[in-house]
Amino acid sequence: MTSPKPIRKAVFPVAGLGTRFLPATKAIPKEMLPIIDRPLIQYAVDEAREAGIEQLIFVTGRGKTAIVEHFDTAFELEATMNERDKALDVLEPTRIQPGNLVTVRQQVPLGLGHAIWCARVIVGDEPFAIFLPDELMIASKGSTGCMKQMVEAYDRVGGNLISVLEVPEEEVSSYGVIAPGKRDGALTEVTGLVEKPKRADAPSNLIISGRYILQPEVMRVLETQGKGAGGEVQLTDAMAQMIGQQPFHAVTFAGKRYDCGSKTGFVEATLAVALEREDMAHEVRAMAKRLLGEC
Ligand code: G1P
Repeated sequence: MTSPKPIRKAVFPVAGLGTRFLPATKAIPKEMLPIIDRPLIQYAVDEAREAGIEQLIFVTGRGKTAIVEHFDTAFELEATMNERDKALDVLEPTRIQPGNLVTVRQQVPLGLGHAIWCARVIVGDEPFAIFLPDELMIASKGSTGCMKQMVEAYDRVGGNLISVLEVPEEEVSSYGVIAPGKRDGALTEVTGLVEKPKRADAPSNLIISGRYILQPEVMRVLETQGKGAGGEVQLTDAMAQMIGQQPFHAVTFAGKRYDCGSKTGFVEATLAVALEREDMAHEVRAMAKRLLGEC
């Protein structure tokens, strides 16, 4: 096989209202809520760059300007920090080359499939990645990030890839679920996809976990995709149409996924990240033990 076209672009659907985190998200986007000292969106962007992706496409909506500000040069802040001899390296991850950040608006909340379709002109005729920033993917020690693992798999098999992980059977109806085919290490052939199936109808307990590499043809399918589960235009339904037309694989991520779209998932992610960080793990561990002892 000739090597597939490289993945240079990533789409981040960030138009959601974040109602689950109100009132915190009344005036700031939920993607700007910090896990310790980095907003959620920063983790996804860092993961994209680690995978060699430089062109970031944010599908935004009203009230989401702070995300774009975050990745802009803050002239006054930097000048003041310089004057005070403060190191600017903390801002390094927020720097984006001119032209590499593009926003498009999703004017009406019609679902994830519709959000992705809103980016079709910018994506153009090349394969692209998708990141759902609510999902924080922390790689196992010694492994690369989730998207880098997927890009490595993509370089071997091409086509379309999604990251998957196993969940308890009673949770499948909250997710997109795959029908698995042949398995080869972390790579599983995808023979079917269902969005939010009833537990009894789910083809497996392997769920789609917020990272995708898709061929541009999916945009054509989305163009005419009707509403699916929850009355929304579902990306999963459009992807299901591509099975059989193009290679379609799932990658089992070597690492952990934290659902930062839920409050308890957010707390879990904060603790997990803190316990991995050299600058605070020791102190946080002692604190957690003390708090648990008091319960
Ligand atoms: C979306 C996708 C679903 C996927 C999930 C992962 O659902 O439609 O296939 O499993 O993200 O979190 P949502 O969480 O937007 O309902």
